[in-house]
Amino acid sequence: HAATVTVDPAFVVGPVRRRTFGTFVEHLGRCVYTGIYEPGHETADADGFRGDVLELTRELGVSTVRYPGGNFVSGYRWEDAVGPVDQRPRRLDLAWHSTEPNTFGVDEFMKWAQRSGVEPMMAVNLGTRGIQEALDLLEYCNVPGGSFWADQRRANGVEDPYRIRMWCLGNEMDGPWQIGHKTAQEYARVAAETARAMRMVDPEIELVACGSSSSSMPTFGEWERAVLTETYEHVDYVSAHAYYFEEDGDLASFLASSVDMDNFVAAVAATADQVRAARKLDKRIHISFDEWNVWYQQRAESQPPKGDDWPVAPVLLEDKYNVADAVVVGSLLISLLRNTDRVHAASLAQLVNVIAPIMTEPGGPAWKQTVFHPFALTSAQAKGEVLRLAVESPVQETAKFGEVPVLDSVATHDPETGDLVLFAVNRSVTEAIALDVDLRGFPGLRVAEAVTLANPDHTWQATAADSTSVAPQPNTSAKVADDRARAELPPVSWSMVRL
Ligand code: AHR
Repeated sequence: HAATVTVDPAFVVGPVRRRTFGTFVEHLGRCVYTGIYEPGHETADADGFRGDVLELTRELGVSTVRYPGGNFVSGYRWEDAVGPVDQRPRRLDLAWHSTEPNTFGVDEFMKWAQRSGVEPMMAVNLGTRGIQEALDLLEYCNVPGGSFWADQRRANGVEDPYRIRMWCLGNEMDGPWQIGHKTAQEYARVAAETARAMRMVDPEIELVACGSSSSSMPTFGEWERAVLTETYEHVDYVSAHAYYFEEDGDLASFLASSVDMDNFVAAVAATADQVRAARKLDKRIHISFDEWNVWYQQRAESQPPKGDDWPVAPVLLEDKYNVADAVVVGSLLISLLRNTDRVHAASLAQLVNVIAPIMTEPGGPAWKQTVFHPFALTSAQAKGEVLRLAVESPVQETAKFGEVPVLDSVATHDPETGDLVLFAVNRSVTEAIALDVDLRGFPGLRVAEAVTLANPDHTWQATAADSTSVAPQPNTSAKVADDRARAELPPVSWSMVRL
């Protein structure tokens, strides 16, 4: 296979946005308890935050963290988890059939966010609750003092307001599994009125309306139209959620998951623009792709407990990722970058233990899954502007998407440093790609760094015992001559070439 790519500094899609590299911490399974928070762990600080997880969070290059859910937020009473810890009630978490001990709440999360250097993205409960409770939480977080909830925060030891900018108006309200699930009309009204009232408290906030929980929902498209028709003036973003997995051994379709993500973004953008035209409005609504990942939902680890069993922090959704999963994660990041004109924020779901790049052993070590690497390297290396590429690639037949190009790629260019970085996935199941990049407009570049993640066995998974033997390796085939870059990309691989 041979593929040709032409890059030109003039083909700018938009800026590389730091918020593309967000993740997600939900009160789900072991994401919070024994994930980011484990008092008594040998690396834990005085607040009980695991130091090894803080370090890996920084290394992952996380920008924003969405919190506290997810399905969890739709039954959450945030006030349960502020103030003296010994007075906080234990509650049933209906979303994950667990017990929520409430020893970790918004103040602990904000302290953790500050320590890990991430921007918080807060979600309010529009499942069992409504406008008033959202306003109370916003007042607790963002108002300096002199009113009940702001003074409660100060009484709890936090003098200065957090001034959280990003707020999600509920979670996946289109999903019948959601506590307080709503029709599009029901949700649209409460989201619009909650947004309007929240802006009266703090006009600086940025608001995300719930879009669809997947593009395969029967209400997809019409949901966005109905919700945006009602909320358009009051919100900044509409959310999108997507999870992919290899189904029935169909690796070729799985490797082409970013085709679906591209289509999803295009459909939501078109719907938002249709509402804009119909409502004769100027502003544009952007997409917050605030849940995306590989997730094997049918596996036993994803099934919540049942009956009288309401455990605290059970093992849930602890998917172990292989090399092909990491290639798909890299490819989905390529799609998010390629759509940077429309996708202004995104969150890999989730950060620790729950469908996560970082895993922990309770009382033991933290380790990196395969998917950690493409995320960390893309976050570290994508800077400046995203460039649209002209790609000539062989195609591969897939059951789900028909013919797809085997090469999935995007480039970023930093006008300040001159760095040109190419991210490339070879979706072929069997063939290597001889990549040939026409660097016109970028004379005199050299290879600064080239790495590839691949393995003869693409089902190799990292474990606590061996999380290092398969990791991105230098790609020594990468060369530049006569203003053309060339590199060999093995089948089922993800690569980063910095020039
Ligand atoms: O990320 C896991 C779950 O997936 C979230 O709680 C929910 O929003 C989505 O369905």
